[in-house]
Amino acid sequence: MDKCERKGEKMVTIKSKKEIELMREAGRVTALTHKAIEEAIKPGMTTAELDQIAEKVMKKNGAISAEKGYDPGIRGVPKYPAATCISINDEVIHGVPSNKRYIKNGDIVSVDLVALKNGYNGDAARTYMVGEVSKEARRLVEITKQAFFEGIKYARKGNRIGDVSHAIGEYVKSQGYSVVREFEGHGIGRSMHEEPEIPNYGKAGRGIRLEPGMTLAIEPMVIAGKPDIFQLDDGWTIVTRDGSLAAHYENTILVTENEPELLTIL
Ligand code: MF3
Ligand code: CO
Repeated sequence: MDKCERKGEKMVTIKSKKEIELMREAGRVTALTHKAIEEAIKPGMTTAELDQIAEKVMKKNGAISAEKGYDPGIRGVPKYPAATCISINDEVIHGVPSNKRYIKNGDIVSVDLVALKNGYNGDAARTYMVGEVSKEARRLVEITKQAFFEGIKYARKGNRIGDVSHAIGEYVKSQGYSVVREFEGHGIGRSMHEEPEIPNYGKAGRGIRLEPGMTLAIEPMVIAGKPDIFQLDDGWTIVTRDGSLAAHYENTILVTENEPELLTIL
């Protein structure tokens, strides 16, 4: 979620038992969609083809993409035109699928998608390694995924959001990489973006306390080089300023009495 996107701020919602069931189902469809993409992705495909696969899987499972038609509420920025965000190599997030954009051997391809089913959203991102990727690219992808798992160690009742943010940021820094500062994780439920904001860096002990029934999208966005980014003229695609590689890993989780439950992993 974009930090500027403060309009219509909502409270942190605690989901009821029934809502948790609906979140599980939206998460399951989100995970199924990723599974289909993981199986299909190969060199020579376009990002538009992958996008169509995602849309089909969602439809078959009674969901739609919450990204398609998403209005960021920023003057001059068009509604999001595709079902998924697909960002290759130095593209960090919000790459717009296109029938002119081919996936090549050695690419790292970040796919971020949100399935909306029965009024509830599941949000997950993966960075897929296509064919033979460089050692550096593989390490970046693995560390980005691990950053998520370092963060959710703290996603427990009574801890604070800052504990999660801090764990992610410190882990990434310890590995010599940078987190993106302009975009962050978020609460999720009936809306794709709910309170609270969950930065991928910050101080431990700060922010709201976590409570059972909160559903959160935690999403480290990691750059192999410097943290600076910029937006392309399409109004969406975010790329690294220094041209270095970037990766993204996200799941929707449920805070419980004990360990968090991962809603977007099958
Ligand atoms: N799925 C993204 C997130 O993790 C949001 C994508 S923006 C959209 O928050 F415009 F594509 F919807
Ligand atoms: Co998200």
